[in-house]
Amino acid sequence: MSDFEPGFEGILGDSPAMAELFATLRRIAPTDCTVLLTGESGTGKELVARALHRRSGRADRPFLACDCASLVPTLLESELFGHVRGSFSGAVAAKQGLFEVAHRGTLFLDEIANISLDTQSKLLRAIESRRVRRVGDTVEREIDIRLVAATNRSLPELVAAGSFREDLYYRLNVVPLVLPPLRERPGDVPLLARAFLHRLQGRPTVVAADFSPAAMAVLEAHAWPGNVRELQNLVERLAVLCGAPRIEPWHLPVELRQPTPEAGPRPAALPTRWAEFKLYKRSAAAAVVDDLERRFLAAALDRAGGNVTRAAVAVGMQRTQLHALLRKHGLGAADD
Ligand SMILES: Nc1ncnc2c1ncn2[C@@H]1O[C@H](COP(=O)(O)OP(=O)(O)OP(=O)(O)O)[C@@H](O)[C@H]1O
Ligand SMILES: [Mg+2]
Repeated sequence: MSDFEPGFEGILGDSPAMAELFATLRRIAPTDCTVLLTGESGTGKELVARALHRRSGRADRPFLACDCASLVPTLLESELFGHVRGSFSGAVAAKQGLFEVAHRGTLFLDEIANISLDTQSKLLRAIESRRVRRVGDTVEREIDIRLVAATNRSLPELVAAGSFREDLYYRLNVVPLVLPPLRERPGDVPLLARAFLHRLQGRPTVVAADFSPAAMAVLEAHAWPGNVRELQNLVERLAVLCGAPRIEPWHLPVELRQPTPEAGPRPAALPTRWAEFKLYKRSAAAAVVDDLERRFLAAALDRAGGNVTRAAVAVGMQRTQLHALLRKHGLGAADD
């Protein structure tokens, strides 16, 4: 990390909310307290979990992350607790679970809201007894782990709705940390944008080294639904694609400069010189056409029930051409 990056373990921010978060992280990182991270997608939950581990006495032991949303209950249980050979079809060999592998380290349970009630009770038992039993096994093994859990949903609401166990919620919610969305801390945008651009300097394809004040104003005004991840991705794209040493408003995607099509770009977002305006005009027109093309394809695919071959026939295109365009626009399609 360079001097350019104020923050905590690579987590950047100088807004009051982030300063308070860093102070809490410094205090709790060396402890064994269970931490529950709540925040929208892209706000840095995993980054915080890893920072907690690095700043703890467990730093030289494993940090293991489990995406609880990506596995069906039986596989999740075997992932967490392990299994003995033959405990279910597919269990061809015995396997250690993450609880065992993370012994003396940190276990990061990501998307914790998505686990079934049944798995929740098994998880609660493991946390309370500090022991795990592999699926199909009779032996219990002692475990010493620090737990960090994360969710982008409100666990109290899920508890009220009956889909999350209240006792497990209290077990996890020892130190609750909320990562604020970027739109609630617009003051962090310049710092983050410059730091991300700074990290890319020296790469052969990167020309841009800074943002103009007008471009930065546009970034600060954006709502960032994808939070820091969205900003980081945009900076990486701009660094390569803008082709100029300074990023200007007209290099930014139209949707950032032009919140609603009726409103048009803000005057500050328009170039003041003709040569630049010509470039701006070209990129704005391309973006509009691109958007129309995406909507045309999405509607065609929708009418064909997601079937690419049928959609291609219906609109009079080659299937391969349609397929390539769908890929370009990131439109998923069912396989024929
Ligand atoms: N405050 C920050 N400073 C620097 N980088 C950040 C910050 N917050 C997030 N990032 C970066 O943004 C990206 C997304 O962060 P991360 O994966 O931790 O988010 P998340 O909250 O776990 O998102 P999701 O819920 O989608 O999994 C990562 O590349 C991370 O390094
Ligand atoms: Mg994450």
